[in-house]
Amino acid sequence: MTSRILITGGSGHLGSRTAERAATVGFSVVGTYLRTPAPVAGERLDICDRSAVQELIERVRPDAVIHTASGRDDWHVVADGAAHVAAASVAASARLVHVSSDALFSGRNVEYDETATPDPIYPYGAAKAAAETAVRAIDPQAAVVRTSLILGDGHGQHERLTRDLITGHVHGALFTDMIRKPVHVFDLADALLELATGDYAGILNVAGTDPVSRYDLGVLMARREGLDPAQIPAATIAHSGLRLPTDVRLCTDRATSVLNVRLRGAYEFMTMPLPKTSRQQDQRSLPRHGGARQRIWWTPTAPARRVGAR
Ligand SMILES: NC(=O)c1ccc[n+]([C@@H]2O[C@H](COP(=O)([O-])OP(=O)(O)OC[C@H]3O[C@@H](n4cnc5c(N)ncnc54)[C@H](OP(=O)(O)O)[C@@H]3O)[C@@H](O)[C@H]2O)c1
Repeated sequence: MTSRILITGGSGHLGSRTAERAATVGFSVVGTYLRTPAPVAGERLDICDRSAVQELIERVRPDAVIHTASGRDDWHVVADGAAHVAAASVAASARLVHVSSDALFSGRNVEYDETATPDPIYPYGAAKAAAETAVRAIDPQAAVVRTSLILGDGHGQHERLTRDLITGHVHGALFTDMIRKPVHVFDLADALLELATGDYAGILNVAGTDPVSRYDLGVLMARREGLDPAQIPAATIAHSGLRLPTDVRLCTDRATSVLNVRLRGAYEFMTMPLPKTSRQQDQRSLPRHGGARQRIWWTPTAPARRVGAR
């Protein structure tokens, strides 16, 4: 029976929510952080350090490991780090749930089920694809969860960016031609915990049911929080000059049949009011660079990407 869970990236958005929910339902939880310790993440771990990963997993002896830690464009963190976590999990006979991404697709085919082969077109997607390959080779019994934009509780990167765009803290725009199937962070956390206690092996798409553009998602968020959607600047990938996947929709039929958790769509969860605590908690903004306002575009690899200072 699974009773002790190790969550890498326990200080991150998904990791912290997963750790909180795991603790609430009675698991013994050990969360890791790299730079920012958190109440649910007290073990410092750099997943680039193979022996540190091994030492921690040997010491904690978890029944399951949920690997949410990730860097942005850093190959060593995303790909090598995932391989280190997989190798140590296998050595300790711990069940592994690895978090992957829809970023490993180009968008050329629009709809992607679990049989789809990665065709990444930018470095973060390539590193996530390499991570999957490593994890599946090292631990064929691992669950590899491909997911999409994570938000819904007010703390997601997209939610923070939209607030910052509306208040003018950052300059940039949300893309009208970048379509994803966003997932509520609680739905995803519950799915990861369900998988941690089960025996599903291989790739599973866990995303929301509604395809929505980044811009429309920003509008939904603004309305939910009583902000003015007209203040959100719109742009297109086509005119940005950036090479990014446009329309990537993860097919979730299999998840619906194998998981108990109900995966909601953005048009459902983004129209529900936020609990007061969520609104009060997340006053963090994206950092300013050198005090000057920067021109920033939303991309899937980073909450904000500087493409040229004003
Ligand atoms: N955010 C999205 O919309 C989205 C979409 C699809 C897939 N995903 C995937 O979902 C997972 C979670 O994403 P998230 O948005 O919750 O991430 P996040 O909030 O950016 O958190 C990243 C976590 O990874 C940790 N970390 C970074 N470098 C590390 C290293 N070298 N060693 C150990 N830990 C390290 C961070 O620790 P510190 O903060 O303490 O430094 C933090 O806990 C990732 O695998 C990501 O690829 C995210």
